Amino acid sequence: MTLPLTTSDATALLGVYARVGPLFVEGVGSELIAEDGARYLDFVAGIAVNALGYNSPVVREAVLRALDSGLIHVSNLYRTEPGERLAAELTKSFAGQAFFCNSGAEANEGAFKFARKWSKKTEIVAFSGSFHGRLFASLAATDRPDYRRPFEPLLAGVQIVPLGDVEAATRAITRERTAAVIIEPVQGEGGVRCVADEFLVFLRKRCSETATALIFDEVQCGLGRTGTLFASEPAGVVPDMYTLAKPLGGGLPMGAILVNDAIASAVAPGDHATTFGGGPFVATVALDVLRTISDPDFLAAVRAKGEWLGAQLNRLAARSARVREARGRGLMWGLELNEVAAPVVAAARERHLLVLTAGPTVIRIVPPLTITREELERGVTILEEVLA
Ligand SMILES: Cc1ncc(COP(=O)(O)O)c(C=O)c1O
Repeated sequence: MTLPLTTSDATALLGVYARVGPLFVEGVGSELIAEDGARYLDFVAGIAVNALGYNSPVVREAVLRALDSGLIHVSNLYRTEPGERLAAELTKSFAGQAFFCNSGAEANEGAFKFARKWSKKTEIVAFSGSFHGRLFASLAATDRPDYRRPFEPLLAGVQIVPLGDVEAATRAITRERTAAVIIEPVQGEGGVRCVADEFLVFLRKRCSETATALIFDEVQCGLGRTGTLFASEPAGVVPDMYTLAKPLGGGLPMGAILVNDAIASAVAPGDHATTFGGGPFVATVALDVLRTISDPDFLAAVRAKGEWLGAQLNRLAARSARVREARGRGLMWGLELNEVAAPVVAAARERHLLVLTAGPTVIRIVPPLTITREELERGVTILEEVLA
């Protein structure tokens, strides 16, 4: 028999998260269910992880099949089928090879190492508003001084340049020193900002001219979130490496680095490794998630729902003096408020709608990609009431 949780059970967890709200015990579709049976409409989706919603038949079936094989983990020293198939599937959309890891931060750390090995240079350029993770190099490339300061010195040689500033970026990215430029084509944590296509085009050109690796961090905005497999697709720009994570494993921890052929050829056995990355269990699930998300009909549905949601949020922004603007694409949206966002997030939760902040004044909306129009409508109505 399991005893009920006590307060000291909760305080046994290290206090790095400011956890709020009820104890969730179940999930179905776009809803989380609390221990008292209350249902919460979830526009957070595990922070853009649960792309196929809760209790997805795709994920469930893949998990059961993966269990049936008896292979939860096999060392990366040996061949297994799921990881090879997943790498092949990912590289259908990007000419190169895949490295699997366990999180978004790890994917970026690995990409920096590959960039250094290939370029034989050391420095990294990132942009204002960026978030690339909480490890020593990814945190150095993250434009959150409050997250960075207590842990300095971080990786040296990282410059943060104003997003969209072509002159500053031209000065910062050099043939002599810059190993990598990292950018989120749609910034997530930094406030949901779509980077202008022209800026991505410029970065591609500058990186090619200076033999610098261009990394698109699509950990949050990638894999269908914005209505295309890669968020950078509409700009027509292909980076040297993509980093992916959040939705890839269907909720299981998984990250990936897609590396183009030139950089892949600079990487040799022993240059990088991780015990768990791309094991047969997670890779089986990720393959089915990827196949589901890359279906053109699935992506078209994300775009259609996103256009509808964007129109509603723009209407809300036009009508409410508390909202400055709506920004986003597909099912990744931010509402920039003229006030601090956290109390609005709390008020929405009181009405059983889960939304997130993205910086101090932005409400972030990243629901499951499988969410229905009716559910979106219900959530927008709650937001309207909260902001009335
Ligand atoms: C764009 C981006 N990169 C990297 C990360 C770090 O991912 P993880 O938390 O899996 O380490 C995040 C997490 O929010 C992210 O949004």
